[in-house]
Amino acid sequence: MARSRRGKNKEERPKISKEGYQKAKQLLKYLAPYKWSFFVGLLFLLLGSGVFMIFPVAAGELINIAIGKSTYGWTLSDLGLILFVVLLIQGFSSYLRVLLFANVSEKGMADIRKHLYQKLVSQPIFFFEQNRVGELTSRSTADVQQLQDAISITLAELIRQILMLIGGIIILAFTSLKLSLTMLATFPVVIIFAIGFGRYIRKYAKKRQDHLAETSVILEETLQAITVVKAFTNEWYERLRYGKSVDQVVDISLKYARVRGLFIVFIITVLFGAMFFVLWSGARMVESGAIRPGDLVTFITITAIVGGALASLGDFYTQMLRAVGASERIMTILNNESEVDMTTEVAPLELDGVIDFQSVKFRYPSRPDIEVLKGLNLHINAGHKIALVGASGAGKSTIVQLILRFYQLNEGKILVDQKPLEEYNITQLRQNIAIVPQEVILFGGSIRENIAYGRHNATEEEIIAAAKKANAWEFISGFPEGLETLVGERGIKLSGGQRQRIAIARAILKDPAILLLDEATSALDAESEKLVQDALNNLMEGRTSIIIAHRLATVRKVDCIYVLENGQIIEQGSHQDLITNDNGKYNQLAKLQFEM
Ligand SMILES: Nc1ncnc2c1ncn2[C@@H]1O[C@H](COP(=O)(O)OP(=O)(O)OP(=O)(O)O)[C@@H](O)[C@H]1O
Ligand SMILES: [Mg+2]
Repeated sequence: MARSRRGKNKEERPKISKEGYQKAKQLLKYLAPYKWSFFVGLLFLLLGSGVFMIFPVAAGELINIAIGKSTYGWTLSDLGLILFVVLLIQGFSSYLRVLLFANVSEKGMADIRKHLYQKLVSQPIFFFEQNRVGELTSRSTADVQQLQDAISITLAELIRQILMLIGGIIILAFTSLKLSLTMLATFPVVIIFAIGFGRYIRKYAKKRQDHLAETSVILEETLQAITVVKAFTNEWYERLRYGKSVDQVVDISLKYARVRGLFIVFIITVLFGAMFFVLWSGARMVESGAIRPGDLVTFITITAIVGGALASLGDFYTQMLRAVGASERIMTILNNESEVDMTTEVAPLELDGVIDFQSVKFRYPSRPDIEVLKGLNLHINAGHKIALVGASGAGKSTIVQLILRFYQLNEGKILVDQKPLEEYNITQLRQNIAIVPQEVILFGGSIRENIAYGRHNATEEEIIAAAKKANAWEFISGFPEGLETLVGERGIKLSGGQRQRIAIARAILKDPAILLLDEATSALDAESEKLVQDALNNLMEGRTSIIIAHRLATVRKVDCIYVLENGQIIEQGSHQDLITNDNGKYNQLAKLQFEM
């Protein structure tokens, strides 16, 4: 949180926007492999724009020929032929330019998208607690799209307009220096004003973008939790929330439009004023015989082109600025440190599964005021089964997440096979761990895909065997489509107990040294629980297992039970030891459950 807030302040100070440009420039390396396409495309752009400038000159020449004052002694049919060739070149070069620029922007953006995705999935859990899913989604879609537009269209247009501006001014100077100077007198005013205005407009553009992202975050959150929205009949509340956010966008967009509109009005007024003034001066020069009528036509047409180029520069300029903003945001993610190294493949590492917690103190980074674990000690031998019991919120799931190295410790150490967790390659470490989490999350595909998520190269037989062991085969084979049954988004088309058994099958298939079961059988009825418990007992054989359970009956047979309270272990021992301690917490818990 603190980091993102600091980031925002940075953007508001104009000085730092240099940093933004710097970041945007880093993105260029993604385009480097396609630079030849880009440069050749640029050449065609140059050719096309250059050839385009022949038209106004030809228009003037047509009139000069018609009144018998041709500059080069050409006839009308000579000029007609030249114009035909020019048209051909113009069409040909435009076609190739579009193709070449598309090549750069499509392929370059695909690389950025892939890298961005890779970066996102390899971020530590903390990153996802700091950033909302909707915002991250908009980075990878809207921002990249904006960048793509900038490279394929805006940049080309910007360059084309600048070329026409420069080319136009040169032709103007050659046609009539005196008229050109009159014309140029208005330029600096417009340019200075345009730059100042552009900066102002950029501020609004960014604000609008931020608010727009906010609305899509709300939309996404609502859709993700649509059952909750409906169950609590909060459609009206969400509608208000969304509506308010959309209205804010409209508010800012209208202000933004007003500034842009003013900008355009200014440019048009100044340019038309200048054009009429130039036209008037030109007519006087024709009257006095200083220039030919055709030259005036050329001059006026080119002035219109130059004026148009100038007017559109502002728009393209702000669009480029927006693209810089988008690249800055993309780059911020790309510059983040990954926790998983996805560039090299790691060799499998076999662990025995000895786990030690040594005076572990831990606070969640998103809630640093609350110490969740307060100096926790724990030793688990390889292949042993231990249970964590204790009140809700005591820190049981936290312990499991720390073994997976989802978070950094604040103090103390966690050792696996006598080696601190941080010294392991995170992939090698996690390859040795399987978890059946408290809240099972499935992917939207088939049951087969979800089980095979434990090991992608598993055969059909292995998947079925795992499903059988998890006591899931019975319900899976009951579905008409069997393993191919689609589970719906996040698994909503399955019951809680069915989801849990799929998660168990997934863990079985992974065949890990360390097994973490966080309330793995909580969603099952007594009969299924007994069956799955048997399956889990088989599964736990020879593996280090940590079982979290509220129902004490399910953990009776483990090697050691730890009773957790307020981030500390207050009792430990076998079921027999603990149950016979009349004043103990475990005894108390057991009595309560027995009474129920
Ligand atoms: N991601 C998180 N960020 C901040 N605080 C968290 C986070 N996850 C859990 N906590 C807090 O840490 C404490 C311990 O949570 P934990 O999930 O470990 O409890 P638990 O023992 O598993 O409880 P339960 O039996 O209800 O599952 C709780 O006070 C909880 O509010
Ligand atoms: Mg928990």
